[in-house]
Amino acid sequence: MNPDVIVRAGYERAADAYLAARPQTSPDIVALDHLLSRLAPGAWVLDAGCGAGVPIAQRLGRAHRVVGIDFSERQLALAARHVPAASLACMDLAALGLAGGVFDAVVSYYAIIHIPRDRHAGILAGFYRLLRPGGLAFLCLGANDLSDDYDDDFYGARMYWSHYDAPMNLQLLQQARFDVLWSQIISDSLGGEAATGGHLFVLARKPKDG
Ligand SMILES: C[S@@+](CC[C@H](N)C(=O)[O-])C[C@H]1O[C@@H](n2cnc3c(N)ncnc32)[C@H](O)[C@@H]1O
Repeated sequence: MNPDVIVRAGYERAADAYLAARPQTSPDIVALDHLLSRLAPGAWVLDAGCGAGVPIAQRLGRAHRVVGIDFSERQLALAARHVPAASLACMDLAALGLAGGVFDAVVSYYAIIHIPRDRHAGILAGFYRLLRPGGLAFLCLGANDLSDDYDDDFYGARMYWSHYDAPMNLQLLQQARFDVLWSQIISDSLGGEAATGGHLFVLARKPKDG
């Protein structure tokens, strides 16, 4: 079956259980401060694969204007409840039909890793296009090499992951013309069965003349 179909159906089923398990103050969440400390109030921020909006879109929304996109209707329904001020839309983050050059920042936590990795370079290019010159990306990418990985019981649903390792992801960001300002591999906050070891978190900037 197509990985997109597995992931979307998986979150339709697992959304509530995933939200209940999602930590609110773990190191991956605290890392968002690397972005928040650089954004002026009222910034336009895209949360790509926003899920239920908790805690990422919620934190962003305290000072900024948030556009959240996800391809799971159940996740978006939860986000509408938890982050009512955000603008939400059902979209595939790998094929974003949004105007270019408008966002001050793009954030994506634990979503790109659900998309077949041969599409990751195109996703980074898409984020680059959406950002205004000087705009920032705060992204969660893979830390280890994982071609195609399936789990039949991710919070009660079938699920799929795919990503490159950290050095390759840093290379892809460079190829997409991003300047990497900060990066760190951060251990999985979920633990238990869902733990994969860690992910690469990156703060990157579209050059001012980009
Ligand atoms: C692990 S959840 C993370 C949600 C949220 N970012 C968070 O940190 O809690 C991954 C989310 O990415 C979404 N997602 C995965 N692939 C996507 C795609 N191609 N387009 C849009 N959303 C996608 C899923 O529906 C799910 O809501």
